[in-house]
Amino acid sequence: MKKFNRTLVTTALPYANGPVHIGHLAGVYVPADIYVRYLRMKGEDVLLIGGSDEHGVPITIKAQKEGITPQDVVDKYHNIIKDSFEKFGISFDVYSRTSNKVHHETASEFFKTLHEKGEFIEKTSEQYYDAEANQFLADRYITGTCPHCKSEGAYGDQCESCGTSLNATDLIDPRSSITGNKPELKETKHWYLPLDKYEPYLKQWILEEHKEWKPNVYGQCKSWLDNGLHPRAVTRDLNWGVPVPVDGGEGKVLYVWFDAPIGYISATKEHTPDWEKYWKAEDSKMVHFIGKDNIVFHCIIFPSMLKAEGSYILPENVPSNEFLNLEGDKISTSRNWAVWLHEYLEEFPEKQDVLRYVLTANAPETKDNDFTWKDYQARNNNELVAILGNFVNRALVLTHKYFDGKVPAAGELNDFDKETLAEIPTIKAQVEKNLETYHFREALKEAMNLARLGNKYLADTEPWKVIKTDEERVKTIMNICLQISTNLSTLMEPFLPFTVNKLREFLNIEPLAWENIGENVIEVGHQINKASLLFEKIEDTTIQAQVDKLLATKAANEAANKPVAPAKENINFDDFMKMDVRVGTITEAEKVAKTKKLLKLTVDTGIDQRTVVSGIAEHYKPEEIIGKQVSILVNLEPKKLKGIESQGMILMAEDADGKLSFVSPDQTVKPGSEIR
Ligand code: 2FM
Ligand code: ZN
Repeated sequence: MKKFNRTLVTTALPYANGPVHIGHLAGVYVPADIYVRYLRMKGEDVLLIGGSDEHGVPITIKAQKEGITPQDVVDKYHNIIKDSFEKFGISFDVYSRTSNKVHHETASEFFKTLHEKGEFIEKTSEQYYDAEANQFLADRYITGTCPHCKSEGAYGDQCESCGTSLNATDLIDPRSSITGNKPELKETKHWYLPLDKYEPYLKQWILEEHKEWKPNVYGQCKSWLDNGLHPRAVTRDLNWGVPVPVDGGEGKVLYVWFDAPIGYISATKEHTPDWEKYWKAEDSKMVHFIGKDNIVFHCIIFPSMLKAEGSYILPENVPSNEFLNLEGDKISTSRNWAVWLHEYLEEFPEKQDVLRYVLTANAPETKDNDFTWKDYQARNNNELVAILGNFVNRALVLTHKYFDGKVPAAGELNDFDKETLAEIPTIKAQVEKNLETYHFREALKEAMNLARLGNKYLADTEPWKVIKTDEERVKTIMNICLQISTNLSTLMEPFLPFTVNKLREFLNIEPLAWENIGENVIEVGHQINKASLLFEKIEDTTIQAQVDKLLATKAANEAANKPVAPAKENINFDDFMKMDVRVGTITEAEKVAKTKKLLKLTVDTGIDQRTVVSGIAEHYKPEEIIGKQVSILVNLEPKKLKGIESQGMILMAEDADGKLSFVSPDQTVKPGSEIR
């Protein structure tokens, strides 16, 4: 195996066109953070690089929709995203952004180098153009039906339903996403990277030399390489991005997928003047953490760019995850189907580690996985509270109770004590093996086994009984429990950094190095602090509130997609005039007993005071509608409802999701005024 002296870990740069959600955290940032924290604890030279991807069509589309500039969009979301990552303890050495100067310069230089080396093909071709918007339609500016899976709404560069990467001209029934018009074809010149040139190299490098890559990653690469690579345009006709820095490049920018991965280089530069050793030295190891829709860009295109440039190393591994779904449905920013990190932080203060834990325990490492709030609750209550929290709490509380919080000296160890302690290095080795091969779920499971071991040790040794007869033995038991707790504070650090801080405070110890795991580092006589609970139970009502929030989103989406009721057949004027609609004022209102929907109203119609039974109880409280002016059909035949004669009908506006509102005059009028 190759020996590396430093590690550069990059995390996919999220588009700054919206906040980040649990899918981002589970797929990329939590595993990368665990990996980097582990390496740091081992004393290795490692950098964690991140930043916001601030170019590309998703950003300009958002800006156009909201009537603001692309810079406004990215400023807003870059800050929200950066803040969320910070609060979740993602320990970036640098979190940068691609709209900054150092990045523009770096990307521009990179392009110029390739251009000077003659690595591009310049080609004029016909591309879609929206004459009304006076704009070429790059990437997501064009939508249509996917030629492969036939789903509608595929983009000019990719179909999100089947994941196929597309050429805009392959789309069936293409439309401009700016005007909805059918686009025309117009000639334009672009720079292409001839990926086919690197195909033999990539085949050897990935398919032969990196068979250890995760099957999902290796499989996707193999399929690309088996199908044959083609030249790919790396510039676009857009005005937001890094300008093409060579003759003929006016009005054009670098393709976002050309500049974004260079963002990793720019961010490293921003962090340290010594950036080149991470990027160019043969003893540096680069690892890209990404989601599965990014595989081709990180395994095929970016390596081809780096190879073309010539002085950079290529990634040693690309541990891409699959997708995390939410309650059975694909996470979607546009449908607001997500658990947003900034909202979670507000709604679950101090519970970052619970989410880090759940997302790691249920990470989509080999296949798409589902996040459910029930599972979140179960893992918190049955694992964090019942296993980890419970063990640590008992160890600390009993030490206070029997020995005033001073670490007691262990006497002679029996076989069970020895076996228990001997488990610690075994668990450590398992965690290491899994972390080093990017199996984070398994690593966490192994780490939790140390807490399980602690619980088993306590259950078997029963210090609360032994204390009555043999205090010396209890000293040994508690000493071992405190050793396990101390080891937990080290072993759990990559996964649960916030919890571990608390635990260290309880134990009154400084952070330890990874190599200390298994050593007896807690000194006899050391005073521990008073402890509180590491985790608390999450109640059903809390979970139900989150489920209800998602149900409301679902209902709103369904309503938004529901078509407006079609127009009815025409009627003649006389028919219309038969209806006697008046403005009335509600003077009394009360609920109709034993019904959910009905209110009994008294309405001053100008003609009389009459009773109307109206199905609005789920929308209005009786006390809030007294005095309200409404529209009432006064010549509707009376009808008995729940034994009450209803004399007329209050007219209501009903939206697609069934929400009712009164139709009221916009200023107070005399009751009895006719509506015509
Ligand atoms: O898929 C995405 O969200 C992209 N913004 C990821 C870019 S990764 C890198 F290359 F910068
Ligand atoms: Zn498709």
